[in-house]
Amino acid sequence: MNRPDAGKAPIEEVNAPIRESAEDALSARSADIPEKTVGNITHADPVMVCRGVDVFYGDKQAIFGVDLDVGRHQVISMIGPSGCGKSTFLRCLNRMNDTIDIARVNGNIELDGKNIYASDVDVVPLRARVGMVFQKPNPFPKSIYENVAYGPRIHGLAKDKVELEEIVHTSLEKAGLLGEVKDRMDQPGTGLSGGQQQRLCIARAIAVSPEIILMDEPCSALDPIATAKIEDLIDELKQNYTIAIVTHSMQQAARVSQRTAYFHLGYLVEVDETDKIFTNPSHKLTEDYITGRFG
Ligand SMILES: Nc1ncnc2c1ncn2[C@@H]1O[C@H](COP(=O)(O)OP(=O)(O)OP(=O)(O)O)[C@@H](O)[C@H]1O
Ligand SMILES: [Mg+2]
Repeated sequence: MNRPDAGKAPIEEVNAPIRESAEDALSARSADIPEKTVGNITHADPVMVCRGVDVFYGDKQAIFGVDLDVGRHQVISMIGPSGCGKSTFLRCLNRMNDTIDIARVNGNIELDGKNIYASDVDVVPLRARVGMVFQKPNPFPKSIYENVAYGPRIHGLAKDKVELEEIVHTSLEKAGLLGEVKDRMDQPGTGLSGGQQQRLCIARAIAVSPEIILMDEPCSALDPIATAKIEDLIDELKQNYTIAIVTHSMQQAARVSQRTAYFHLGYLVEVDETDKIFTNPSHKLTEDYITGRFG
């Protein structure tokens, strides 16, 4: 039977307000978020296994049921529009959200099979195993040497001065900075250029022999040359470390990572091999983002 209104859009749709702001455009798409993350959340050799991760800031939920494996000795990048929860999720991986009073994390995050949120886990050694490099280089107001020596010293990693010196040199070398600073180790770390300071922060993270290094937009304050250096470094570091990097640069994600996770409004929409995400994403939201339709 032909209904009289057949073929017409429902009233609500016709009267729907015109959405203009970028924020409205984003939330308008919340209905498109898949029930389950598309792609492949698992990895054959995971160093971290995250399941059902929710994060709340007070009453407001910022991360919704994220399931994700972080593969050992590879780089995983996290991309998505501003405010979608990339930094919040990254901070779950070494319990940095514990430092935010109103933040609450639910779910399970295992590092080599052990829940890092278990009551007997001490966050100090955890954060040595899962180090962090921030967006803005943040050397301590100390000498270059002391910036790198500090961690090994408080964690008791060197038995004497000679061994400590060895750790400092090796860490600076791995961070690709030794050549530029070896003659001025006693000068302040804050006196280095932005790119050098960021490599100093990477050396500081490496000095405590982490298994995983979390990087939250580590190149956003750097020029293209310093950025290229950090990207080369990330590529080398993955031989020995696992790296999870948040970036707003899709070129950077494509260059440095083997897997890419696309976040949207607090949901992990899609995760897959980086090549797949950038050449043939499975989900429309991912495609819209990587083709620059929003974000
Ligand atoms: N300390 C905090 N207190 C309250 N809300 C927060 C806090 N940090 C983040 N949020 C909220 O959580 C949501 C996710 O923020 P988050 O910083 O993780 O996003 P992001 O993807 O890293 O964004 P950007 O690309 O801009 O860095 C946002 O709605 C944000 O306002
Ligand atoms: Mg962020």
